[in-house]
Amino acid sequence: MSELNNIVLKILGNGKGILAADESTGTMTKRLDSVGVPSTPENRLQFRETLFSSSSMKECIGGVILYDETIKQETSKKNKIPELISKMGSAPGIKVDTGAKVLASSPNEKITEGLDGLRERLKEYYKLGAKFTKWRGVYNISKSYPSKLSIHVNAHALARYSALVQECYMVPIVEPEVLMDGEHSAKECYEKTSEVIKKCFEELILHKVDLRGIILKPNMILAGNTSREKTPNEEIAKLTLECLKNSVPSEVPGIAFLSGGQTEIEATENLNLINKYNNTHFIMSYSYGRALQQSALKFWSKDIKNIEGTQKVFNHRAKMNTLAAQGKWSKDLENK
Ligand code: 13P
Repeated sequence: MSELNNIVLKILGNGKGILAADESTGTMTKRLDSVGVPSTPENRLQFRETLFSSSSMKECIGGVILYDETIKQETSKKNKIPELISKMGSAPGIKVDTGAKVLASSPNEKITEGLDGLRERLKEYYKLGAKFTKWRGVYNISKSYPSKLSIHVNAHALARYSALVQECYMVPIVEPEVLMDGEHSAKECYEKTSEVIKKCFEELILHKVDLRGIILKPNMILAGNTSREKTPNEEIAKLTLECLKNSVPSEVPGIAFLSGGQTEIEATENLNLINKYNNTHFIMSYSYGRALQQSALKFWSKDIKNIEGTQKVFNHRAKMNTLAAQGKWSKDLENK
């Protein structure tokens, strides 16, 4: 099992983080629509190949989460995508859940599906070169949510998934995402997130998952996006650290945050403060989707042939987040 721990350290060591490029075709189509590029398999591949061959893949990006379509695609030079990622010094990973569906008995909440046939799919992804996987449970906050039911069933699914992934020699990313949507305060986010994470670990332990061989991918502790509360960044960092210190067992080697709708700069600044104040032994890094790709996607959409220019924008964002993962980022560096 120490093999799995080595994979975690390779992905998250030395300030490295994860590029979450595992948008489903539906989500990627929305992203491409928003910048006026047709969502064809070729265009989805071209944008992703541009990122995966950037120089920051060597210095900053320890792992890339792929979607089923991408892990099976070939680059313009006829290499398989996982080969390109490995050649760049990073680890290929794969999203293996099949999405969040309406939860029977609590129709305002979701349960993530994808356990049926998972063992067989994992074997296939392992053969394709995957070293790690991702499964996302999703929870919304209001007075009555997340319900005990949703907290329970999503934790159960995350644990069953994790056990199957470790059985197949890969590292599971355990992602319980408490959404930012709503009017809730940071304190409410703190309470609900703590409850959600504690339940996840209760189930992971029950399912005999080796905690030294997982990566936890949580949300930061933030007030809802329609809340009137403006939480100072220092407070966000301190609440996030407090929450994780109290709910994550000490065997877990690494935590990689999702960006969850924060702007690129917010996600970097908050990660930097978390690392400045980090009084835990957990590695605290990033596994960002939007907060790593937004500017690069915008730039690319204006001229999809401009590979070098797009890579420059992406490299900058990756570098800023890798500095933040070491508590070495400052606003001045953004304009250099
Ligand atoms: P965001 O960083 O855009 O929230 O995406 C991360 C992710 O992988 C969500 O599952």
